[in-house]
Amino acid sequence: MIYMRDNPAMHGLQASKFLLLALLLIQLLFSTQLVAQRSKSPWQTLTGDAPLIVARGGFSGLFPDSSLDSYSFVAQTSVQGTVLWCDLQLTKDAIGICFPDVKMMNASNIQVVFPKQKNSYLLDGVLTQDWFTIDFNFKDLKNVFLIRGMLSRSDAFDGNNYAISTVQDIATQLKPKSFWLNVQHEAFYAQHNLSISSFLLSAPKTVTIHYLSSPEVNFFRNIGSRLGRKGPKFVFRFLEKDDVEVSTNQTYGSLAGNLTFIKTFASGILVPKSYIWPVESQYLLPHTSVVQDAHKAGLEVYASGFANDFDIAYNYSFDPLAEYLSFIDNGDFSVDGVLSDFPLTASSAVDCFSNLGTNASTQVDFLIISKNGASGDYPGCTDLAYSKAIKDGADVIDCSLQMSSDGIPFCLSSIDLGKSTNVVQSPFRNRSATVPELNSLSGIYSFSLTWSEIQTLRPAIENPYNKDFNLFRNPRERSSGKLVSLSDFLNLAKNSSSLVGVLISVENATYLREKQGLDAVKAALDSLMEAGYSNRTTTTRVMIQSTNSSVLVDFKKHSQYETVYKVEESIRDILDSAIEDIKKFADAIVVGKKSVFPTSASFITRQTNLVARLQKVQLPVYVELFQNEFVSQPWDFFSDATVEINSHVTGAGISGTITEFPLTAARYKKNSCLNRKDLPPYMTPVQPAGLLTIVSPTSLPPAEAPNPVFTDADVTEPPLPPVTARAPTTTPGPQTTDGKSPNGQTRVAVSLLLAAFATVIASLLLM
Ligand SMILES: *[C@@H]1O[C@H](CO)[C@@H](O)[C@H](O)[C@H]1NC(C)=O
Ligand SMILES: *[C@@H]1O[C@H](CO)[C@@H](O)[C@H](O)[C@H]1NC(C)=O
Ligand SMILES: *[C@@H]1O[C@H](CO)[C@@H](O)[C@H](O)[C@H]1NC(C)=O
Ligand SMILES: *[C@@H]1O[C@H](CO)[C@@H](O)[C@H](O)[C@H]1NC(C)=O
Ligand SMILES: *[C@@H]1O[C@H](CO)[C@@H](O)[C@H](O)[C@H]1NC(C)=O
Ligand SMILES: *[C@@H]1O[C@H](CO)[C@@H](O)[C@H](O)[C@H]1NC(C)=O
Ligand SMILES: *[C@@H]1O[C@H](CO)[C@@H](O)[C@H](O)[C@H]1NC(C)=O
Ligand SMILES: *[C@@H]1O[C@H](CO)[C@@H](O)[C@H](O)[C@H]1NC(C)=O
Ligand SMILES: *[C@@H]1O[C@H](CO)[C@@H](O)[C@H](O)[C@H]1NC(C)=O
Ligand SMILES: *[C@@H]1O[C@H](CO)[C@@H](O)[C@H](O)[C@H]1NC(C)=O
Ligand SMILES: *[C@@H]1O[C@H](CO)[C@@H](O)[C@H](O)[C@H]1NC(C)=O
Repeated sequence: MIYMRDNPAMHGLQASKFLLLALLLIQLLFSTQLVAQRSKSPWQTLTGDAPLIVARGGFSGLFPDSSLDSYSFVAQTSVQGTVLWCDLQLTKDAIGICFPDVKMMNASNIQVVFPKQKNSYLLDGVLTQDWFTIDFNFKDLKNVFLIRGMLSRSDAFDGNNYAISTVQDIATQLKPKSFWLNVQHEAFYAQHNLSISSFLLSAPKTVTIHYLSSPEVNFFRNIGSRLGRKGPKFVFRFLEKDDVEVSTNQTYGSLAGNLTFIKTFASGILVPKSYIWPVESQYLLPHTSVVQDAHKAGLEVYASGFANDFDIAYNYSFDPLAEYLSFIDNGDFSVDGVLSDFPLTASSAVDCFSNLGTNASTQVDFLIISKNGASGDYPGCTDLAYSKAIKDGADVIDCSLQMSSDGIPFCLSSIDLGKSTNVVQSPFRNRSATVPELNSLSGIYSFSLTWSEIQTLRPAIENPYNKDFNLFRNPRERSSGKLVSLSDFLNLAKNSSSLVGVLISVENATYLREKQGLDAVKAALDSLMEAGYSNRTTTTRVMIQSTNSSVLVDFKKHSQYETVYKVEESIRDILDSAIEDIKKFADAIVVGKKSVFPTSASFITRQTNLVARLQKVQLPVYVELFQNEFVSQPWDFFSDATVEINSHVTGAGISGTITEFPLTAARYKKNSCLNRKDLPPYMTPVQPAGLLTIVSPTSLPPAEAPNPVFTDADVTEPPLPPVTARAPTTTPGPQTTDGKSPNGQTRVAVSLLLAAFATVIASLLLM
């Protein structure tokens, strides 16, 4: 304070008295404020403040843990006051570095630089082979670079030669408003004559530490008050419940029942998520009372283990935002902080999505169109998937129309029953056929079974990411629900007061007419009429979608329903003449995500102006397909489905999302950050190709050929053929045995069929 320099009377004793008084006053004010604040605060944290976000190793979900870019990216993407977490390690010469572990192999290229320096030490009572920080002087590490430590993360930043930083580097270069040091292995360092306490006590004044955590009781006992009254907050870190704490020889599980003891040396605890929300078979059990108990003991509670690319409980439907909310906004308590590898998602959970109440108003309008209902949670196109979609806030539910052999229109994701039912394990498994027009492999097609036969099948949840990523959707409900006919679907929709409309998608109409004598267009029109939807007489909008213009032309000829043209391939642009053509028969258009944000190696390369051009001529653009699984998204969206939605809606200005997880889209609509004049960074659309500027070019594959431009020739189709008379033998019952069906399809032998479906069976069995 400059004025004090000119006031010698304030020096000496008087000054210190003044300071003491001021301090007391501030403390008094602060504590009364605290009480007042807490009683009116929406937060059920210990102090009533918003929960703290602690960025583990920086934005380590994207960049190599503890790299400078990882740390500096936090301020660019997170709420103010987000804490930088540094895992403190000591080198052989007692230099403190930020590095995720005392073992170095996982998160650096050390095995390349020092191939022969592998060592083995007793670590936590286990003989462990690795490269250890204690074997290297700091200057030896100058050519050792940080890389991703987890395979689920992009390796595109591994070529950036991120150096290992000292604690002081991070403190002085980034000047974090809040800095957290975690000391995981104090006892191990002590055994090797390296003292963490000495390091901390001799740290220069430029290093201000606000939080200090450790899983070792003795560490806190030893360092005690030696860091001074204005020293860091001590946070005792709990490891897994069965692990034994070295200094007390008690399990962490038993220490968790002794919080008054913890309070004698710490002001907070850091616990794995499962201490608060235990899981069984990856489903959440009711929450424990750990947070409430700790708050009663006067301890703050920080929860660890948050990352958008970790396996989270099925209850969250792969949505990391939902997980944060269950820890900070559940009506019973809020943790005081979360330790996260993706501080952006934590930030938007705290600042945009918490304490909204049940009646939060919509901040942004766009259509949420389901894809086979809430098919991320239940088998697609079942009553359960549709009811869930309605409950979750979908505006439009969709029926992907299929025809049974007896001409009943029903909803199913694919014309091939094998993709989403148990038909390959049913008595109808011998109804398989090879239909070159539909698929080069054989299938069991909807038009080979009657509706009453189809109704005996059990639906199967689709798992688009089980083969490559071993991700399964809601296994407990993997065969729940009933398949519904189009008229069931329409009645279910009519019953809802929240739905804006229904979308009926009609594919393969030509084949069905020519080869199966089935008229999907007529069937749809008849069902709509019977259900009382005919020609916009109800308030429920009816949208007919097809990838084939001739189908939409046919619908337009016979009805006044809205038509939606779906462009299946990824395109980079569209000719004006093609837009004119589309306008003649379609009221809206569906394009894929890659037609909006093309990608290469899962990085966004640019933003097309397709959406703007289509909307200029009043063609609403709906985009598919939105899924919550992080593997479905380019890296630019930080493995966060909400960021992806936001970038499409606020960034690209699309008119609707087609999604398997309507809840995530519906929640996004209500987030309170969207009504602010300045969008916070975590609610700002991502910069197209922004991340590519940080990726080292050597990490990228050669550029892919650009997507094609959509032309009139792609739009124009010959008109639908007339319906042919139905071949009698295609009705089920005894089949011809000569291996050929009357209409020329090859029927395959059962043995071949089994081979073709081996993967399907395997995946069904695996679930
Ligand atoms: C590397 O890190 C991953 C993720 O933290 C962990 O599962 C694995 O055990 C680590 N491997 C080693 C050798 O430490
Ligand atoms: C640690 O220091 C003590 C005493 O100076 C010495 O006897 C011991 O060998 C040292 N241990 C290690 C692992 O360097
Ligand atoms: C730690 O506790 C276990 C069982 O509670 C006991 O067997 C063991 O001897 C104890 N170790 C020490 C060093 O006290
Ligand atoms: C709590 O832990 C301390 C230290 O291990 C121990 O002395 C005390 O008996 C424990 N209290 C209870 C109630 O378990
Ligand atoms: C999680 O989902 C399972 C299965 O649906 C359910 O039984 C359980 O109650 C849910 N847990 C919570 C905390 O809602
Ligand atoms: C939410 O809206 C309903 C119906 O409009 C009303 O009964 C309820 O009191 C409102 N709840 C809150 C928390 O405002
Ligand atoms: C429509 O709603 C009513 C009352 O909620 C219910 O009894 C009926 O079964 C529902 N019909 C359908 C088709 O869901
Ligand atoms: C049948 O529809 C699917 C999309 O549902 C499409 O991939 C396939 O090409 C269509 N086949 C024909 C012959 O229309
Ligand atoms: C719906 O419109 C079509 C074409 O305009 C017409 O042929 C049909 O009779 C109408 N149906 C009803 C129920 O109005
Ligand atoms: C679209 O439908 C027309 C008329 O039935 C058909 O001739 C054409 O092959 C279809 N186009 C595609 C891509 O399936
Ligand atoms: C298919 O299996 C059923 C009984 O499982 C049998 O009645 C029928 O004849 C079989 N059809 C063919 C073509 O093998």
